[in-house]
Amino acid sequence: MAKRFSTLGRYPTTRLRRNRREDWSRRLVAEHRLSVNDLIWPVFVQEGKNVRTPVASMPGVDRLSVDLFVEAAKQARDLGIPAVAIFPETDPKAKTPDAREAYNPDGLVCRAIRAVKKEVSGLGILCDVALDPFNSDGHDGIVRDGIILNDESVEALVKQAIVQTEAGADIQAPSDMMDGRIGAIRKALDDKGYQHEQIMSYAAKYASAFYNPFRDAIGSSGALKGDKKTYQMDYANSDEALREVGFDIEEGADMVMVKPGLPYLDIVRRVKDAFGVPTYAYQVSGEYAMLKGACERGWLDWDKVLIETLTGFKRAGCDGILTYGAVDAARLLAKK
Ligand code: PBG
Repeated sequence: MAKRFSTLGRYPTTRLRRNRREDWSRRLVAEHRLSVNDLIWPVFVQEGKNVRTPVASMPGVDRLSVDLFVEAAKQARDLGIPAVAIFPETDPKAKTPDAREAYNPDGLVCRAIRAVKKEVSGLGILCDVALDPFNSDGHDGIVRDGIILNDESVEALVKQAIVQTEAGADIQAPSDMMDGRIGAIRKALDDKGYQHEQIMSYAAKYASAFYNPFRDAIGSSGALKGDKKTYQMDYANSDEALREVGFDIEEGADMVMVKPGLPYLDIVRRVKDAFGVPTYAYQVSGEYAMLKGACERGWLDWDKVLIETLTGFKRAGCDGILTYGAVDAARLLAKK
């Protein structure tokens, strides 16, 4: 590598600052460009009518009742954002050890999907497939005697993916990290005639301390017993991410995701180079909180760090990014 670069020129005949002198020239040599088409906006939904509840650990992010979510979805569509992702705050009374609310066709998620599909065209809807918002144990799978069961959990996840598809969601996004769930969901969708339903796998999802604000937002923090280390990946591992992604592609994933985002851009690059499939990253709640918290204190400039971080995802190889800053980023990109 070093040799190749040294043969490409030498100071003082070569001066790398020449191309950087003027704005027009910097634009001309820019290698990566962030566009509104790269954004997926995660939104928290709650019960009620005309209510919006701020999420304390995510300044600027509100939980929305379904009617307000429909308005927000219209706004996102009008800005050119391709898709939104729905995350529900479930009434604690509806949470059970078998998480059966996950496949209630009249549950909050399905009602939110139907409402948006009825009123807003030209916007993709992505839904998580995982049990944590509905599970009284706060885990992504079913827990028995302290063990997170794999195959029983996959059965529930399959039911959840089916009801969300029937309600009109476009992309099923399993975020649970159980083994074999992509294949099981793909088969069940195909058997029901949903061959066109897309799957975005949270393929390399790490057991991360950056998810805490999200768990506050969906109200699962209190419920969660222990941690998620027996199913989410160890952040010390990188080769293992390639195995996870490879399995999910073979099982039928159309798109793959790495999560969290910024501390894992090396994984994005390896995945993109190894497989060349549509690759996404999730700039998660803790990353948002970290940036927003510093911006609120006047230590960082939100508009600038938002666009810089999102461009960094593109540079690492992402085809798109899930970010709570999607609407702000879309507005900033429209102004340029
Ligand atoms: C749950 C899920 C989580 C996130 C997306 N889906 C949290 C977790 O695994 O505990 C995190 C998103 C974020 O932090 O913004 N299956």
